[in-house]
Amino acid sequence: MNNLKSIRENRGLTKKQAARTLHLRYDYYNALENGTFDDNEIIQAKMPELEKQVETHYVPKLVEYSHPIVLTPAIGKGGVGKTTSVINIAGVLAEMGYQVLIIDTTEQCDTTLTFLSTEELNNAKTIYSAIEGVEDLKPYICHTQFPMIDIVPSDYRMNNIEALLATMVCQEQILKMCMQTILEENMYDFILLDASNHLGSFKNVVWMCSNPIYLYSTVKAEAMDIRQLPPTINTITNCQKTFARYGQDIRYLGNFISKINFSQKVAEESLEVVKQILGAKNFDCYVRQDASISSAIEEQQPVINYKRSAKASRDYTVITNEILRRVEEMEYGKEKQQ
Ligand SMILES: Nc1ncnc2c1ncn2[C@@H]1O[C@H](COP(=O)(O)OP(=O)(O)OP(=O)(O)O)[C@@H](O)[C@H]1O
Ligand SMILES: [Mg+2]
Repeated sequence: MNNLKSIRENRGLTKKQAARTLHLRYDYYNALENGTFDDNEIIQAKMPELEKQVETHYVPKLVEYSHPIVLTPAIGKGGVGKTTSVINIAGVLAEMGYQVLIIDTTEQCDTTLTFLSTEELNNAKTIYSAIEGVEDLKPYICHTQFPMIDIVPSDYRMNNIEALLATMVCQEQILKMCMQTILEENMYDFILLDASNHLGSFKNVVWMCSNPIYLYSTVKAEAMDIRQLPPTINTITNCQKTFARYGQDIRYLGNFISKINFSQKVAEESLEVVKQILGAKNFDCYVRQDASISSAIEEQQPVINYKRSAKASRDYTVITNEILRRVEEMEYGKEKQQ
């Protein structure tokens, strides 16, 4: 038995904070503290050094909630930057030291294939099978090359998810049931679900997977995207009211522009129009058009890992901080929900 637990407790650290002093994943730290690590002999030799680190090393000041913050993009249009936002917000959160789980529910699998190779995906179990069998999602989690990012992969069968759901009972509760252990164990600070553009019945399943659930929307600074904002907000507001009757708390964080090119005349005008539509739900920050976004995806990385100095790295860092601020306000009830 090692002394990690008593050293950690003496210092008043949570297990997550202790994991951060060692730059370790939370479940690895847990195994260390419980003495259930696979390479126990090697670890025992290193234990005095690890204990010293837990006793003395700097602990990044991160917000810690009693439950994972579950976050998903919501908008009824394709190609608005949902997948890009999930990949890059996850990247920034992980860089800050948060433990992140991505659950890909899209049929395109772009998020999955950013974090896993095709071979890894072929050997993995996917969200579709979990939903089909109403199974615990925990064994479906895959580690990625980024220690703070895990993923539950998707596959092309998600194309058929609404037809599958139509054959099942308690449809809206299914993803929630699959996620129950993950939520209860509180291993992850953030869970990001990538979702498809339709606002059909599967959206209800996603929006009920956790209570509360946090939504955000994204649009490019283009008329066709911006036009979708009022109906999307309408859908969100209606769902908030209806779901509230069943005790489900849907929290809309707001909208940010996922791609704006200031060399185009319409850019400033688009910002103004979006601001008028959204009021307080408009993020003051936006993501500028940046070729590093697609280069990073080709290199299977969030842009912050691919090129820290890129415009998009800076912009997604600011957006993520804005999300954190808004979540914090809602968690502590400082802001009235829309
Ligand atoms: N800031 C940006 N600069 C340049 N390109 C961007 C930016 N943001 C997104 N893109 C590009 O826009 C395209 C669409 O983005 P993305 O796939 O994230 O949209 P989506 O909403 O997930 O689409 P779908 O509805 O098909 O799932 C991608 O090719 C992506 O690389
Ligand atoms: Mg997508």
